[in-house]
Amino acid sequence: MTNQNRTALITGASAGIGAAFARHLAAEGYNLLLVARRAERLQDLADELKRDHGIRCDVFAADLNDPSAPAAIMAFADANEIAVDVLINNAGLSGKTAFADTPWPTLAAEIQLMVTALTELCHRVLPGMRARGWGRIINLSSVAALSPPAASLLYTGIKSYVLNISQSLDMELKPQGIHVTALCPGFTYSEFHDVMGTRDTTDKLPGFFWQGADAVAREGWQAVMKGKPVCVTGMVNKLMAATVRPLPVALQYRLGDRLNPFKE
Ligand SMILES: NC(=O)c1ccc[n+]([C@@H]2O[C@H](COP(=O)([O-])OP(=O)(O)OC[C@H]3O[C@@H](n4cnc5c(N)ncnc54)[C@H](OP(=O)(O)O)[C@@H]3O)[C@@H](O)[C@H]2O)c1
Repeated sequence: MTNQNRTALITGASAGIGAAFARHLAAEGYNLLLVARRAERLQDLADELKRDHGIRCDVFAADLNDPSAPAAIMAFADANEIAVDVLINNAGLSGKTAFADTPWPTLAAEIQLMVTALTELCHRVLPGMRARGWGRIINLSSVAALSPPAASLLYTGIKSYVLNISQSLDMELKPQGIHVTALCPGFTYSEFHDVMGTRDTTDKLPGFFWQGADAVAREGWQAVMKGKPVCVTGMVNKLMAATVRPLPVALQYRLGDRLNPFKE
């Protein structure tokens, strides 16, 4: 089967790393199904990619905070005879306020978006991938999952779940031709820190901490095609993860408590 006959479903394709994945895979000849809330942005990107690469590119506007969204996305795919061969579970964000001060619906929405919807989409695409004996899944974790815990943020815990479940799924599914990769970027140029409201703090970080979204997408795609279950992007993030991981848990806790840049 050629790339021209394969389709990638990308969540969070209206900005940042998701849009970079869309451009990267379109250039490789994959057809696309793009998902996010901002329909106009998705349509503009789809028009650009169809024009530049001659691919099929469908869009489906969905709010992944809505528990019915994963089923609705797959119903759209079925109705339009789209077989999902590649799933990029990329949509995400981080809250900034302290756990105890954040209303429960806000925290529940983070879990729905980055834990439940991500897991449900994996589950829903698998029957087709198994039937065809080929599939590629990239789940956006973060170098935060390999870093000391951060005070009061759900984000580290959520991304740790994504890192862990992706490895479990890869072990289960690789014998059936399906690779699963947890992609762990560090600071990446996108809208992420504007949405989080930490742009002022993060803009003070030195340039060597940062990567472009296109570099992250390229590394992630290479990793899943090579069958790597975990991909930490960029040399700085790799060094950081390799340094922190062997430390005793109690020391990681103290480091996290001291170094968390978002602690009030
Ligand atoms: N940037 C970083 O420094 C960094 C580092 C490590 C990991 N990551 C992870 O990388 C992934 C992509 O982030 P990014 O940096 O590309 O951020 P971004 O530029 O803010 O893009 C986030 C994407 O997620 C979508 N999204 C957010 N909430 C959604 C919802 N409820 N339903 C559907 N789509 C939703 C947004 O689309 P709409 O607003 O149009 O819905 C947007 O397309 C995230 O999972 C993030 O945690 C980012």
